[in-house]
Amino acid sequence: MDLNSRLMQKLAEAGQSHVLQFCSELSPEEQVELTNDLQDMDFKEINEFFKSAMETSNSSKHEKMDARMEPVPQEVLGSVTRDRASLKTWEAEGLDCVSQNKVAALLLAGGQGTRLGVSYPKGMYDVGLPSHKTLFQIQAERILKLQQLAEQKNKKKCCVPWYIMTSGRTMESTKDFFSQHNYFGLDKNNVVFFQQGMLPAMDFNGKIILESKGKLSMAPDGNGGLYRSLGNQGVLDDMEHRGIQYIHVYCVDNILVKVADPTFIGFCAKKGAECGAKVVEKTNPTEAVGVVCKVDGRYQVVEYSEITLPTAEKRSADGRLMFNAGNIANHFFSFSFLKDVVQKFEPQLQHHVAQKKIPYVDAQGRLIKPEKPNGIKMEKFVFDIFQFAKTFVVFEVLREDEFSPLKNADAQDGKDTPTTARHALMSLHHRWVLNAGGHFIDENGTRVPAIPSSRGGAAGSVSDGGPRNLKDGTDLPIKCEISPLVSYGGEGLEDLVKGREFHPTLMIDERGVHQLVKNGV
Ligand code: UTP
Repeated sequence: MDLNSRLMQKLAEAGQSHVLQFCSELSPEEQVELTNDLQDMDFKEINEFFKSAMETSNSSKHEKMDARMEPVPQEVLGSVTRDRASLKTWEAEGLDCVSQNKVAALLLAGGQGTRLGVSYPKGMYDVGLPSHKTLFQIQAERILKLQQLAEQKNKKKCCVPWYIMTSGRTMESTKDFFSQHNYFGLDKNNVVFFQQGMLPAMDFNGKIILESKGKLSMAPDGNGGLYRSLGNQGVLDDMEHRGIQYIHVYCVDNILVKVADPTFIGFCAKKGAECGAKVVEKTNPTEAVGVVCKVDGRYQVVEYSEITLPTAEKRSADGRLMFNAGNIANHFFSFSFLKDVVQKFEPQLQHHVAQKKIPYVDAQGRLIKPEKPNGIKMEKFVFDIFQFAKTFVVFEVLREDEFSPLKNADAQDGKDTPTTARHALMSLHHRWVLNAGGHFIDENGTRVPAIPSSRGGAAGSVSDGGPRNLKDGTDLPIKCEISPLVSYGGEGLEDLVKGREFHPTLMIDERGVHQLVKNGV
């Protein structure tokens, strides 16, 4: 049997022969391309994914989680505000792990960034900071600084390998970008790119959707596609070879992310955790954020849509929401746990169903852009593996210090936009300068009050969920940016700013302190 008849038989057995319906209209090159795309696909497996994802999705629609949920128990909880006395110890432990080359950072950058609407990978986005650094550059420089801090502490050269997960759509452009920018000063041998899997979009009857006559509609298989690709792309072996013991997994779009945060690593390591989640406090019951909690005794992230309002509104004796551990997709894994997940547990993970409007070609070969959802994409989530952890810890951090994701394009009063991300970073850096004893003065030479009258709390801090409520042109933060090469988390600034007054825009980088008279932010 030749290749094509084998393929046709495989498709027929899986009920997917329609993907070849326009084959005779394609050019010879297009035919080869389509055949190549189809050859590596396991249609039986795809059909099974569809069946079980739809079954799970249908049954979960009718069942709320409330009765099965318990909040995170106190004994596994750490907090940057309530455990101040322990922070230095955890940080020192984390830095020791870094200096022993036991820590790796793992970046989830395989998403399509549909809502942001740019044609290139999100990590290449410039949110308009004074330096115009991209998200990739900011993260790379945080790794460089962390290595330097660990080296200074333990007088020993070290490295934090950076594993970057891309998808079929983002791999080439991501790699090119790093190479054009000389890996932002990192050793290229310690930056490891790998590719997650892709799955076809299906209609509600389980038929694969064609996006053109010769192309299937394909999408990455969710950030939980991580676990399969760690195994089949040789990443786990690379980690083992390097002696990695702790892995920090995070999303590309959080401009405030503390990459391989030594305090978080140290906290998780000291607690002997297999798995850890950084969370921010959910303060508003109706905020659409997943919460980390226990369901039937196992850790899980429960989405807002899976619980009823009375449960979302429940409060503990201290007045805080009972289910308040807001997931920010910022995780710790021990290497041995990750290995077990990849080698044993991954096949047990179910795909989640996302109903989408998926452009398709109809039986006449016309491209249709549907107005309502016409099919599904199947995705696994990175947190789906919490259930397998025998030891799990949760670390609560401040939203305004550590979480400001870039999801959407700029819009009036928009949430999670380039403007909110830029403001969040500048607001944090403003507070670092104040904490280190510096001051800001306005154009008349008057000191800008440390506590702005329009908002409570310290300068630039926002208690209601980050600076996203600031509107451009009204309540702008002080324009201030500190290079990660100078400070990882606000440390080491006293010599540069103590007792000094600055005009915004203030930039502090490895070349020194600069005050830009013209505000161009
Ligand atoms: P989101 O779910 O916010 O998706 O990803 P996205 O691709 O960034 O944006 P939209 O939904 O298309 O607008 C959260 C994180 O998970 C990664 C993203 O790159 C981001 O860091 N991700 C998402 C993957 O690595 N792979 C995926 O298949 C999906």
